[in-house]
Amino acid sequence: MNNAAAPTPPAPSYKPTDAASVSAHVSSLSQYSALYEESLRDNDGFWAKQAERLDWIKKWDKVSDCNFNEVSIRWFQGGKLNASHNCVDRHVQNGHGDVTAIIWEGNDPAQTRKISYRELHEQVQRAANALKASGVQKGDRVCIYLQMIPEMAVAILACARIGAVHSVVFGAFSAESLISRINDSSCKVIITQDTGVRGTKQDIPMKANVDKAIGQTPTVEKVFVVRRTGSIVEMKEGRDIVWQTALDSTSPHCEPEAMDAEDPLFILYTSGSTGKPKGVLHATGGYLLYASVTHHYVFDYKPGDVYWCTADVGWITGHSYLIYGPLANRATVVMFEGVPNFPDYGRFWQVIEKHKVNIFYTAPTALRSLMKEGDAWPDQYNLSSLRLLGTVGEPIKSPEWTWYHKVIGKGHCPIVDTWWQTETGGILITPLPGATPTKPGSATLPFFGIRPAVMTDQGEELHGNDVRGCLVLSGSWPGQMRTVYGDHQRFVDTYFKRFPGKYFTGDGCWRDPDGYYWITGRVDDIIIVSGHNIGTAEVEGAIGQHNSVAEAAVVGYPHDIKGTAIYAYVTLKTGQVASDQIRKEINLKVREVLGPHAAPEKLQFADGLPKTRSGKIMRRILRKIAENELDNLGDISTLAEPAVVESLVSGRVN
Ligand code: WTA
Repeated sequence: MNNAAAPTPPAPSYKPTDAASVSAHVSSLSQYSALYEESLRDNDGFWAKQAERLDWIKKWDKVSDCNFNEVSIRWFQGGKLNASHNCVDRHVQNGHGDVTAIIWEGNDPAQTRKISYRELHEQVQRAANALKASGVQKGDRVCIYLQMIPEMAVAILACARIGAVHSVVFGAFSAESLISRINDSSCKVIITQDTGVRGTKQDIPMKANVDKAIGQTPTVEKVFVVRRTGSIVEMKEGRDIVWQTALDSTSPHCEPEAMDAEDPLFILYTSGSTGKPKGVLHATGGYLLYASVTHHYVFDYKPGDVYWCTADVGWITGHSYLIYGPLANRATVVMFEGVPNFPDYGRFWQVIEKHKVNIFYTAPTALRSLMKEGDAWPDQYNLSSLRLLGTVGEPIKSPEWTWYHKVIGKGHCPIVDTWWQTETGGILITPLPGATPTKPGSATLPFFGIRPAVMTDQGEELHGNDVRGCLVLSGSWPGQMRTVYGDHQRFVDTYFKRFPGKYFTGDGCWRDPDGYYWITGRVDDIIIVSGHNIGTAEVEGAIGQHNSVAEAAVVGYPHDIKGTAIYAYVTLKTGQVASDQIRKEINLKVREVLGPHAAPEKLQFADGLPKTRSGKIMRRILRKIAENELDNLGDISTLAEPAVVESLVSGRVN
């Protein structure tokens, strides 16, 4: 298990400034502790009170009904609500229709659009009607394959409005990834765009990817195409529909569907350690509540704040903290189509100045890539609107934490290092900005109602502080995923088998002497590359699709910018000769099958892989070689062919 790297807490921690504390929703550590205790003592009472944040069409009969031994999770049973009503309608009905919901910042700095809650309300209803007209009914699955454009929010909320289950597929995924995801959940409709723009890339072939996929996705009946760039794309009569035309020609009124709290809201695919991506299924009531409550407390959102989450809506962070959480809280959110280094390395900071952003939430990998370009970029811009900074996706190390704090936050903005997962729906371990003293690199303390525990590999719970082991959750919370779509057994096996009665996160952690949590990385076969969750088995599968490949094994190794990068070991079929050409082709193959984010940074051709006598690849050894820890390869005596190790070491790619 990879938990040796836990840093020592620096002696001084950063206390929230008075300015941050005074007006915060939770303004001291003692207030946090009291509320936290209370939330555990009367968990149902706590969540029932929080649930008043939402509009319910019908109140629930029972707050929670969860059993981790039987793996049954239900929140707010009997309750009825609609997520799009909660994110849009009620704000308009309460007189806030003129508040800006979305500030869209295009890839091109000259392009900005502001969309009020009233406009969003109309667009969502029109889109909902357009979906209905194309045959989508409550419970049907809709695949959304878009870049970061306002129509993404409209499409998501339109699905929620009519009770269709959306499955957003990240816009950089390839046609092949699209096929497997569409087929796994039998999507009826796809919503895409003509082409996309990102940084210097113009005309990213979104519709063309859909066209490639669609021959192999028999359940798809209609394809909506948002006109983003105006590039000419093929439109198949009777199947493909221009989004804008469909919206314009339908009614702007559509009643929201009354959904059961436990009705599915969406599916989002995440990497599995055994190959096939898992369709993480979230339920309407609990998820929406959890996203809203955590957004309120963790980002300390107050009316008028401009809030920017840089995550793509193709990932869970975009779902929870760009769409559902903030919109339920009537926030003004910045949605950014571009990338941090276009037109130059000052883009993030320019956008913060331009829109007077108060709360900024991004990923450590973005910070690392910008930090290395020097302080001159942020120093050109007025960042004085910022009052709160956040990170998510992977452990943030001390250098980038300190840079973020000093150079971006000018020493006065609290940093919330938020730990959570696609599966958890929302943030579970995090500082509260007005309350929790922070230590660079630690996600600090559990959110209200959350019961983390640390387990040994043997399954014993470690009590007290200064303990290291596997991070589990001892009880449920409303935002927890309910199942793996179409494969409940996989849900049980992945998360509840290793430590019966507990939810296993797959992460290792250290609970330090002060009870603070430090996430030390994955203990399973998932690699977090630039904050993206990638399964080793998926990458190995993609490499294996190259004709010359006999076998592949991939591991993660530390990388300055990506945090972790992928190192691939590849053995070729007999008669094939290793060459740069094959290396390039394999790389292309992975890009084609999974997308560019999953391509290996390093690739070593090997004569053989280190295997036990039972044929299991010993990744521990491959990891050590990739990490260049050659003096510390550990026991290799159980290998079928110990000599393999020597040749792997000598062929190591620097
Ligand atoms: C990692 C992203 C350390 C962790 C929301 C987790 C983190 C996985 C942090 C989930 C953090 C996320 N500190 N590690 N603040 N946030 N992780 O599903 O390994 O894309 O299990 O969800 O990212 O990644 P996912």
